Amino acid sequence: MSKKIIVIGGGPGGYVSAIRASQLGAEVHLIENEKIGGTCLNVGCIPTKVLLHTAELYHSVLHGDAIGLKADHIKIDWDTLMKRKQTVIRRLVGGVEGLLKANKVMVHKGKAILEDEHTVKVNDESIKGDKIILAYGSLPVSLNFPGANLPGVIDSTAALSLSKPPSSIVIVGGGVIGVEFACLFASMGTKVTVVELLPEILPLIDIEITQLIKQEMKKLGVTFMNQAKLSEVKKGSKDLIACVDCNGREAQLSAEHVLVAVGRKPNTVDVGLEKLGIQMERGKIIVNKDFETNIPGIYAIGDCNGQIMLAHAASAQGVAAVEHAMGHNPEYLSNTIPSCIYTSPEVASVGLTEEEVKKQNIEYKVGKFPLAGNGKSIIENDGVGMVKIIAGKTHGEILGVSMMGPRVTDIIAEAALAIRLEATADELITTIHAHPTISESMPEAALSLDGIAIHWINN
Ligand code: NAI
Repeated sequence: MSKKIIVIGGGPGGYVSAIRASQLGAEVHLIENEKIGGTCLNVGCIPTKVLLHTAELYHSVLHGDAIGLKADHIKIDWDTLMKRKQTVIRRLVGGVEGLLKANKVMVHKGKAILEDEHTVKVNDESIKGDKIILAYGSLPVSLNFPGANLPGVIDSTAALSLSKPPSSIVIVGGGVIGVEFACLFASMGTKVTVVELLPEILPLIDIEITQLIKQEMKKLGVTFMNQAKLSEVKKGSKDLIACVDCNGREAQLSAEHVLVAVGRKPNTVDVGLEKLGIQMERGKIIVNKDFETNIPGIYAIGDCNGQIMLAHAASAQGVAAVEHAMGHNPEYLSNTIPSCIYTSPEVASVGLTEEEVKKQNIEYKVGKFPLAGNGKSIIENDGVGMVKIIAGKTHGEILGVSMMGPRVTDIIAEAALAIRLEATADELITTIHAHPTISESMPEAALSLDGIAIHWINN
């Protein structure tokens, strides 16, 4: 008899789990309260990238003189852009719904409440399963400051559906969401200020790459306030006034909107977890290496376990959890999870940063290749960017790669594969890369580990 698997949540964690479970022969029930595709497809990764794509093209054409593009009266048609965003979302959500149907996954619409170790209630129906996969996702963290409920104070979901591009915006939080929206709006001509609590933005990215992207964002017109805390938002005569405490000095910033992007929290409230005694810590569901909770047969994957809040990590965790639930022996290699930030230019990294290898007392060497030495990058963005490789000192095994430049969110997959295969710098170097491509900077950075890059004068 086939196993019955219940998946709660239809985001990239949940729907991928459901499809994989079906491939492995399970009868699968997927329960979704809102829209299939979850945050990523509906109000996260996908809509942001639709807007960023247009914003970048607009900015390139607007400043196209140097590349031989002259366009008079170029402007953003906001209504068409909003429609396109919805069309892309609909197409992808429809695609996922089609995949679920083709894989005979039974989709139930409604809020799922855990009743016991094998039963989930949705609407008035109780569904029984052998195994349950929790893929609840996450919600934006809200900040409690005076004025938090004023019209114009928004979160990332609302920022995707404004009625027009804002003339000015204060973005609270210099994390991934904060910097992506900063690039988006600044490229469209909005006056953007990023207010970040810590001394630096993007705390998890290699500090050298952070400095580079910050420099580029400043060129776009973004202002940064670090070690700064929003204390209050007031209503001004026309705009909002954001009161910011920056290093002990108060600044008042006038802006049409204040976007709060200070992180996301697991969406684990009122779903029956406490009743079952599922262990949690500050809202995050605690799991073992197979993503199983303290209740055997109940797994928690993706943002709701709080390990790493990325869509592709959620999908990979879902596959691993389902394979384990179906009696297989999956491999989940967290050191191969890339981080991609869709700024202009893009930032991507995988594995360890230089700061992390130092902390772990690993003997290492560093190779850096500035994209000013890469022909394709000079063509695409004037050669702005860098590939930085960290490798083991003795054997040259690739430990981590960080990059900034055009299309690096695609190129990072090569670095992830190198880490997966425990490849050495020599293996990267002897893999022949096509010319002219930005990916040529990978072997060049590997060569520079030993000071022998070809297209750069080595010191
Ligand atoms: P985040 O955790 O990346 O960054 C939040 C930032 O806000 C931190 O730098 C933090 O120091 C700062 N902060 C916290 N409280 C503050 C305060 N009171 N005042 C000023 N600054 C404050 O969270 P973010 O950007 O909201 O993203 C949420 C999650 O979504 C992250 O896990 C992120 O990785 C994921 N995400 C990933 C994307 C991608 O992969 N391209 C895109 C968007 C989100």
